Amino acid sequence: MRIFTKLSAPLCLLFVFLCLKTAFSSSIHASSLSTAHRCSHEEALALLQFKTSFSINYTVPYSYYWGENYSKIESWKEGIDCCSWDGVSCDNVTGHVIALNLSCSFLYGTFPSNSTLFLLRNLQSLNLALNDFRLSKIPSEISQFTRLKHLDVSDSGFSGQVPREIAYLPKLVSLNLSDWYDSSDLILETTTLRNLVHNLSEVRELVLSGVNMTSVNPRFFMNLSSSLTTLDLFESVLRGNFPNSIFRFPNLKIFSLSGYFGERNLTIDLPSSNWSNPLQDLYLSVMDCGRRLPESIGDLKSLQFLSLQCNLEGSIPASIGNLRQLTYLSLSNNQFSGYLYSNNLSEQIPSSLANLTQLTFLALSNIQFSGPILASIGNLRQLTSLDLYSNNLSGQIPSSLANLTQLTSLALSYNQFSGPIPASIGNLRQLTSLDLNSNNLGGQIPLSLANLTQLIDLDLSNNQFSGPIPTSIEGCGLQNLNLHGNQMDGLLPRSLVNCSKLEVLDVGNNSIEDTFPHWLESLPDLQVLVLRSNKFHGIVQSTKESPSFPKLRVLDLSSNDFRGPLPVQYIENFKAMMDPHGEDGSPKYMKVMGADPYQYSLVVTWKGFDYELQGILTVFSCIHLSNNMFDRKIPDVIGNLSSLKGLNLSHNNLTGNIPPSLGNLTNLEWLDLSSNGLTGKIPDELVSLTQLSVLNLSNNHLVGCIPQGNQFNTFGNGSYEGNLELCGIPLSKSCDGIGTPPSSFQEKDELWRFGWRVVVLGYGCGVVFGLLMGYLVFRTRKPKWFVSLFDGRPSQSGRKMRKARRLVQRRS
Ligand SMILES: *[C@@H]1O[C@H](CO)[C@@H](O)[C@H](O)[C@H]1NC(C)=O
Ligand SMILES: *[C@@H]1O[C@H](CO)[C@@H](O)[C@H](O)[C@H]1NC(C)=O
Ligand SMILES: *[C@@H]1O[C@H](CO)[C@@H](O)[C@H](O)[C@H]1NC(C)=O
Ligand SMILES: *[C@@H]1O[C@H](CO)[C@@H](O)[C@H](O)[C@H]1NC(C)=O
Ligand SMILES: *[C@@H]1O[C@H](CO)[C@@H](O)[C@H](O)[C@H]1NC(C)=O
Ligand SMILES: *[C@@H]1O[C@H](CO)[C@@H](O)[C@H](O)[C@H]1NC(C)=O
Ligand SMILES: *[C@@H]1O[C@H](CO)[C@@H](O)[C@H](O)[C@H]1NC(C)=O
Ligand SMILES: *[C@@H]1O[C@H](CO)[C@@H](O)[C@H](O)[C@H]1NC(C)=O
Ligand SMILES: *[C@@H]1O[C@H](CO)[C@@H](O)[C@H](O)[C@H]1NC(C)=O
Ligand SMILES: *[C@@H]1O[C@H](CO)[C@@H](O)[C@H](O)[C@H]1NC(C)=O
Ligand SMILES: *[C@@H]1O[C@H](CO)[C@@H](O)[C@H](O)[C@H]1NC(C)=O
Ligand SMILES: *[C@@H]1O[C@H](CO)[C@@H](O)[C@H](O)[C@H]1NC(C)=O
Repeated sequence: MRIFTKLSAPLCLLFVFLCLKTAFSSSIHASSLSTAHRCSHEEALALLQFKTSFSINYTVPYSYYWGENYSKIESWKEGIDCCSWDGVSCDNVTGHVIALNLSCSFLYGTFPSNSTLFLLRNLQSLNLALNDFRLSKIPSEISQFTRLKHLDVSDSGFSGQVPREIAYLPKLVSLNLSDWYDSSDLILETTTLRNLVHNLSEVRELVLSGVNMTSVNPRFFMNLSSSLTTLDLFESVLRGNFPNSIFRFPNLKIFSLSGYFGERNLTIDLPSSNWSNPLQDLYLSVMDCGRRLPESIGDLKSLQFLSLQCNLEGSIPASIGNLRQLTYLSLSNNQFSGYLYSNNLSEQIPSSLANLTQLTFLALSNIQFSGPILASIGNLRQLTSLDLYSNNLSGQIPSSLANLTQLTSLALSYNQFSGPIPASIGNLRQLTSLDLNSNNLGGQIPLSLANLTQLIDLDLSNNQFSGPIPTSIEGCGLQNLNLHGNQMDGLLPRSLVNCSKLEVLDVGNNSIEDTFPHWLESLPDLQVLVLRSNKFHGIVQSTKESPSFPKLRVLDLSSNDFRGPLPVQYIENFKAMMDPHGEDGSPKYMKVMGADPYQYSLVVTWKGFDYELQGILTVFSCIHLSNNMFDRKIPDVIGNLSSLKGLNLSHNNLTGNIPPSLGNLTNLEWLDLSSNGLTGKIPDELVSLTQLSVLNLSNNHLVGCIPQGNQFNTFGNGSYEGNLELCGIPLSKSCDGIGTPPSSFQEKDELWRFGWRVVVLGYGCGVVFGLLMGYLVFRTRKPKWFVSLFDGRPSQSGRKMRKARRLVQRRS
C-alpha cells in the first residue's frame, strides 16, 4: 500500500487572496475622499467608544496571514471628521455613517453585545472580517441594522450559534460568515438557515465556508433567491445529498461545495443536462458526485475554474475540450482508472485537453492515467503549472514541453517515464520547480538544465541517472537539490558552494567517490545534508576557518567509508542542533520560499509501507553516522546537541565509555550505538531520556547493571544483547546473581504504536524518523501547511489545513 497525499492547487493564487477577498462583499467604497459632510457628534462618539472596547493585537490567529500590517482604527481621532477616518464612509447628503470596513484591523477582544456600534442605524455595509473577537457570539443586536446590504464577519473569531436575528436583515445582498479562525466553531442551526433562505429575497452572495451546519438539511438551500450568484460551502460541516437543482439556478456563477475535513459524508449528483450556463467557478470535493463526469460538462462555456474531487470513474469526456475559457483545471485524486477514452488505447489523457489553450493550471495527479503524454500538450502555451504526479504515465517526456515557456512548476513524479530528460527542457526558463522523482529515467542529466536559472527546487531522486553530477547544476538559486537514489558517480561538484541558498542537499544512494565536502560548511542555510550510501571516504574534519554548518539539523553520512574520530569540531558548532525550540519557540516547517511556498517532506517505509511525512519540523534534528569506520571515543560535547531526536552511531569502531552527557539529550527518541567497541557501564544519566522509545546498545563490551526506571523499563533484551558482562532487567542474568524473567515486549509495542500515532497526526516525526532512517527519501513540492492526517480525524492541525485548502482553492 502506498499512501499518496497531495494538494494540487495554485498556491500562487493565494497571496492575493486575503484582504482582497473582502472587496467582493461590498459595493460601497469605504475610503471616503469626500469630506464635505461632517459626521454627527453622536456617531463619532459611538465609533470612538467602539474603538476603546478592543485592543490592537498584531499577533493574528491565522496561520496563513499575508494581509495588512497596520490597523485602520489607529487613525481614528477625536476632533477630525469621522467621515475621513480610515474604513469609515458617510452618506454625502446626510453625513450618516453608511459603511464601515474594519477588515484586517487587528481588533482583539470580546465583542460586547451592548456595543456602541449598534447606534449606527444607517449602516448599509459592515465588514469586520479577519479580526479576533475571541470566540464571542455574533450579537443578536445585529438585527438593528435594518438597512444592511452587505455583512462580512468572516474569520473574525466569532463562535457559537449564529443568532436567528441574522435572518431579519431583509435587504442583505451579500453575507459572509465563513469561519477559518483557528479554534472557533460557528454553528448555523437549521431554523436559522431556513428563515435566512426564506427571508433574504435579495441575496446574491452567500458564503458559509467552514460553518458547522450539522443539523441542516441541504435541501433548504434550494429555497434561495434565484438572484443567487455565489454559494460558497467550502468545507462546511454539512451532510447528506445536496440537491443538484443548484446547477439550474439561472444566475449562479460561483459554486463551491466540499465536505468537512475528515467527514466526507456529502454527495451531489452532477446533472446530465441543463446546467446553469453562467457558471464560472465550480469546486467540488465530496464523497460522491455520481461517478461519471457527464458529457454535458462541455456545455458550461463560461467555466474558468474547475476542480472536482469526488471519486469520478470512467473517462474524462472529450467535451472538456469545449471549455475554452478554462484557466484552471484540477481533476486530481479521482478514480479515472481502468476505462479507456474513445476506444483508443493510447489516449488516456483526452486529446481534446489540448484545445484548452487558456489553461494556466492543470492538475491531473493521482488518478491512475496511463500511456504517454501527448505531444499536443505543447499547445497549452499559457500553462504555468503542470501537475501529473502519481499516475502510470510512461514513455518519454515529450520534447514539445519545450513550448510551455510560461511553466514555473512541473511535477511528473511517481510515474513510469523512461529515457533521458529532453535537452529542450532548457527552454523552460521560468521553471522554479522541477520534480521528476521516482520514474525510470536514465542517461545523463542534460547540461541544458544550466539554463534554468530560476530553479529553486530540483528533485530527480529515485531514477536511474548516471554519470557525474554536472557542474552545470550551479544555477544557484537552488534551495533544494535531491539526487537521491540514482547511479551518479564522480565527485561532488565544487560549484555547489556557489548555491548559497541551498537548504537541502541529498545525494544519498549513489556511487559518488569523494572526501567529505567540508567546503559546504560555509553554506549559511544548509539544513539537511544526506550523503548516505556512497563511496565517501577519509576523515571528516572541519577546515576550522569558517563557521561550520550553522543551520544543519539533519546529517546523514551513514554507509560510506569515513574513518578517524567523530567530527568533534563540527559537533561543537552545530548551533541549530543545540536549540530545541527553534528561533521563536514554536515549531516551524522547513519551506522553500519562491514563487510558491513549498515544504520538504519525507517518505518513510515502516513495516513494508511507504508513508509520506509532510514537513520536517525545523526543531527536529538527527545525526546518522552508522556503517563507517569511525573510531575512538564518543565526544562528550555531543550532549550539547539538545534538539537531537535521533542519534545513530552504530556499526563503527567506537571505543571508550558511553558519555554521561548523552543524558542531557532530553529530546532524544532514538539512540543506536550498537556494534561498536564501547566499554564500561551504561551511564545512569540515560534514565533521564524520557522521550526515548528505541535504544540499541547491542554488540559492544558494556558491563555492569542496566539502569532502571522511566523508559528503561520498556526496553527488551534486544537492546543489550551481545554485551556479555551486562546484567539486570530485562536480561536473565541478574546483578545479584539471581535470574530475573525477561520483560514483556507488550509495553514497548504500545509505545511504538503511540509514537506512530503522533507521527500520523503530523505533530512530529521523531520516533518513526529515527526508526526509519535507513529508508528516508526527501521529497519536495508540498505546500507548507499540508499535514497528513491518515486517520482523517479532525484536529487542530486539521482545521488549519482546511483553512489553507480553502485559500488555495480560491481564485484571486
Ligand atoms: C475593506 O478593507 C480591506 C482591507 O483594508 C480592503 O482590502 C478592501 O478592499 C476593503 N473593501 C472595500 C469594499 O473597500
Ligand atoms: C495577542 O493575541 C495572541 C493570540 O492571537 C495572544 O496569545 C496574546 O496573548 C495576545 N496579546 C495580548 C497583549 O493580548
Ligand atoms: C508593512 O507593510 C509595508 C508594505 O507592505 C512594508 O513596507 C512595511 O515594512 C511593513 N511594516 C511592518 C512593521 O511589517
Ligand atoms: C456621493 O459622492 C460620490 C463621489 O464623491 C458620487 O459619485 C455620488 O454620486 C454622491 N452621491 C450623492 C447622493 O450625491
Ligand atoms: C456594556 O455592558 C458592560 C457590562 O455588561 C458595561 O460594563 C459597559 O459599560 C457597557 N457599555 C456600554 C457602552 O454601555
Ligand atoms: C458541529 O456542531 C455540533 C453541535 O451542533 C457538534 O456536536 C459537532 O461536533 C460540530 N462538528 C464539528 C465538525 O465541529
Ligand atoms: C453519513 O451520515 C449518515 C447520517 O448522518 C450516517 O448514517 C452514515 O453512516 C454516514 N456515512 C459515512 C460514510 O460516514
Ligand atoms: C479541438 O479543436 C479542434 C480544432 O480546432 C477541433 O477539430 C476539435 O473538434 C476540438 N475538440 C474538442 C473536443 O473541442
Ligand atoms: C510548438 O511550437 C512551435 C512553434 O514555436 C509549433 O510549430 C509547434 O506546433 C508547437 N508544438 C506543439 C506540440 O504545440
Ligand atoms: C542555453 O541557452 C543558450 C541560448 O539561449 C543556448 O545557446 C545554449 O545552448 C543553452 N545551453 C544549453 C546547455 O542548452
Ligand atoms: C578498530 O580500532 C582498533 C584500535 O582502536 C584497531 O585495532 C582495529 O583494527 C580497528 N578495527 C577496524 C575494523 O578498523
Ligand atoms: C548537562 O547540562 C548541564 C547544564 O546544561 C550541565 O551542568 C551538566 O554538566 C551537563 N551534564 C553532562 C553530563 O554533561
